[in-house]
Formats: sequence, C-alpha cells, structure tokens
Amino acid sequence: MEVVIVAAPSEGARLVADAIVRLVRDQDEAVIGLATGSTPEGTYAELGLRVAGGSLDPDHVRGFLLDEYVGLPEGHPASYREVIRRQVVEPLGLHPARVCGPNGLADDLPLECRRYEAAIASAGGVDLQLLGIGTDGHIGFNEPGSSLSSRTRLKTLTASTRADNRRFFGEGDEVPSHVLTQGIGTILESSHLVLMAWGSEKAAAVAAAVEGPLRALVPASAIQLHPHATVVVDEGAAGSLELASYYREVWEAKPAWQGI
Ligand code: GLP
Repeated sequence: MEVVIVAAPSEGARLVADAIVRLVRDQDEAVIGLATGSTPEGTYAELGLRVAGGSLDPDHVRGFLLDEYVGLPEGHPASYREVIRRQVVEPLGLHPARVCGPNGLADDLPLECRRYEAAIASAGGVDLQLLGIGTDGHIGFNEPGSSLSSRTRLKTLTASTRADNRRFFGEGDEVPSHVLTQGIGTILESSHLVLMAWGSEKAAAVAAAVEGPLRALVPASAIQLHPHATVVVDEGAAGSLELASYYREVWEAKPAWQGI
C-alpha cells in the first residue's frame, strides 16, 4: 500500500487526475469507479480542467458509481446519480450512457444488484476505483460489520452516516436509511484503489484503515488486502498515522514520472 501525504486536497486531486489521464492514455479506454461525497469533488473539477485542456478525452472514459440511496425520487438532487451528473457527466462532457449506477428505485432490488455486478463485469471491471472514507470507516456504503467479501447489495445506514450526510439534503428532507452499494469484494476486484481523505475528522478512520487490524468493524481496512492501493491524505487526515514520516520519505524518493 502506498500512502501519499499532500499539503492540500488540491494537490491530491491533481495527483489522482494525473493517474486517470495516464490510464486513459496507456490503455485507450478507462473504467473509473466513481465515489460521491465531498472528498472526490476536487478530483472531478481537476478532470474537467484536463478535458478542457485537451489531455483527457471523455469518449475514452466510462464510469460506475459506488453506491446509491434507495427510494429517492428520480432527479432528487442528493441522489448519487444526480450528484455524478452534476459533478462528472456534465462538466466532463461524458455521454450519459457511459456512466452507470445501481438503480435505487428498482422494484426488485436483489435483481438490480446482480444486474449491476454483471454490468461492471461486462465492462471488463473497474480500472481505477476512487474511494472516500466515512468517519466510521465505511467505504462505499459498506458500514461497520460488512462482510469483507460482500457483493453489491442492500444495506442499512448507521445513524452516524445518516447524520454525516444530512448536509446534502434539504431541510425537512429525510436521509434514506437504505442504500445499494458495491460490496467490499466488488471494490477489491478493481485494478487500482485510490482512497482519498481530507481533514482531521477523518484521521482516526484513516489510521484504523491503513494501520489497524483488518476487520469488519473497519470496512476500509479491507484495502490492506489489495495489491495496488493508494491512500492520498492531507496533513489533517494523516494526523494519526504512526508511520507518517516513513510514508513521506518513500514518496519523496519516488521518481515523479511514476505518479501514484
Ligand atoms: C458517503 C459515501 C462514501 C463517502 C463517504 C464520505 O456516505 N457513500 O462513498 O466516501 O460518505 O463522504 P465525504 O467525502 O463527504 O466525507
């Protein structure tokens, strides 16, 4: 696992955007796993700049969402499909058909989860999966207690995640209690995991994920099992890492052309 400590989220966003641009250049088409929440917003903005500058061709990018709320009406501004439409599809000029997400309005949710897994597989899998981390250590919407080999399925949010995500909903609007999320086993199948975290409120979760024991109580600790996982954190989110100075030393010695 590589841990990169950056001075500011904007520097992290540039590093991650560089990796995506390189991926598209090297293999002609790239499948990106799209996370939501505040954390990847800078990366999406940076990708928009790359498209505008001509270094990234959106016709060579496909996207799969990590997760979705169950039951939010079509077009609800907090639904992840809508968030990704606003932050990725439109600014990057992606054809909407190139981005898929689990349908939280499907009549048969287990069938929808199987359909989603099949769609990811038929795209050849995810090349680079963007991840944030919940303050309770979740990735996607895999809450503490999730099986480390889980597949896309229905989950119930914890009270703390619903409180954390309250800010994305309007006044009087309920945060749904149910979601569809790629499982941890699904996430681990992507070729490269890139977990980002900004701010000291994520420090405990980041330390538990990166340096703590592998356990269902900290779903993000599953990234320790992945052969190519990169954790990009700012100073605040790196605040509880025991090996921070070693991570800095490794990064400083790495040739710049290698990127993450
Ligand atoms: C949400 C999302 C996750 C995200 C996490 C952190 O619940 N399902 O994918 O990583 O919360 O969100 P934020 O980046 O806003 O801190």
